[in-house]
Amino acid sequence: MGKRRVTVQTPGGCGGLRLAAEFIGKANAEATVWVSDPTWANHKPLIGSAGLKFKSYPYYDHESQNVKFIDMLKILQQVPQGDLVLLHGCCHNPSGADLSPEQWEAVRDVALQQGFNVFIDLAYQGMGTGLEEDVHGVRLLAESLPELIIVSSCSKNFGLYRERTGAVTLVCDSDESCATASTVLTAAARANYSMPPDHGAAIVQLIMNTPELRSSWEEELKEIRDRINKLRSQFVQKLKDAEIARDFGFIENEKGMFSFLGFQCRSDQNSHRELQHLFSQF
Ligand SMILES: Cc1ncc(COP(=O)(O)O)c(C=O)c1O
Repeated sequence: MGKRRVTVQTPGGCGGLRLAAEFIGKANAEATVWVSDPTWANHKPLIGSAGLKFKSYPYYDHESQNVKFIDMLKILQQVPQGDLVLLHGCCHNPSGADLSPEQWEAVRDVALQQGFNVFIDLAYQGMGTGLEEDVHGVRLLAESLPELIIVSSCSKNFGLYRERTGAVTLVCDSDESCATASTVLTAAARANYSMPPDHGAAIVQLIMNTPELRSSWEEELKEIRDRINKLRSQFVQKLKDAEIARDFGFIENEKGMFSFLGFQCRSDQNSHRELQHLFSQF
């Protein structure tokens, strides 16, 4: 705690999302959480079960295979004070399409103008472009907004899925608000599961505080990231080599573990043949 922020350890990212949702509900039971269309399938059950309402903002354009940023911004310009906008810190699940640095700046500007709060889900730090690069938007918002909620997960980047290791970090407008927020968060945790499991968090703490372990973790994470990005490039190249007419270049620009291939679920003969031809290349 201190420096206008407080972090509470949680049972994974899911536990963090649920705890943050309870915290939001206690601060403003009428708050609506705006989620990207599409978003991770578990956002609504996790956050909704804490009693919060949802609306969605346009995010991924299946036609252009890119973020529909103009449409997204238009909707964000209507989000009122008291509501929250949920953003994926990096490696958007399920589209793989992330905001550019300029787009993060525009989101920051509209958040300041409208006075809504931002809620960031950071489940894949280090799996997109780099440990620092992947939190460019998170840092930008933490520096410029009075308040911010960040839920992070160590499940993927530390390979600790089964140990349920995550955290909720609140950036507050003052150290006093942080102290109050911390009391509310820990009381909500106590009423749910009391204490999060310790083993995974102890592993993360040891790695982060031991220079040799930290650098070997960073190297391993880079290997994972490089492999994902290499597979993306090889996939696109193979399709080009096979003279597949459709341009799949967008897959190379997307980040993390997910992408939409852009196939409609049609059962006609042509799309069946197209898929067969495509996958016969691998
Ligand atoms: C976008 C997103 N947020 C949060 C989570 C939850 O993370 P955890 O496994 O740490 O509960 C996931 C896991 O798949 C995810 O994809």
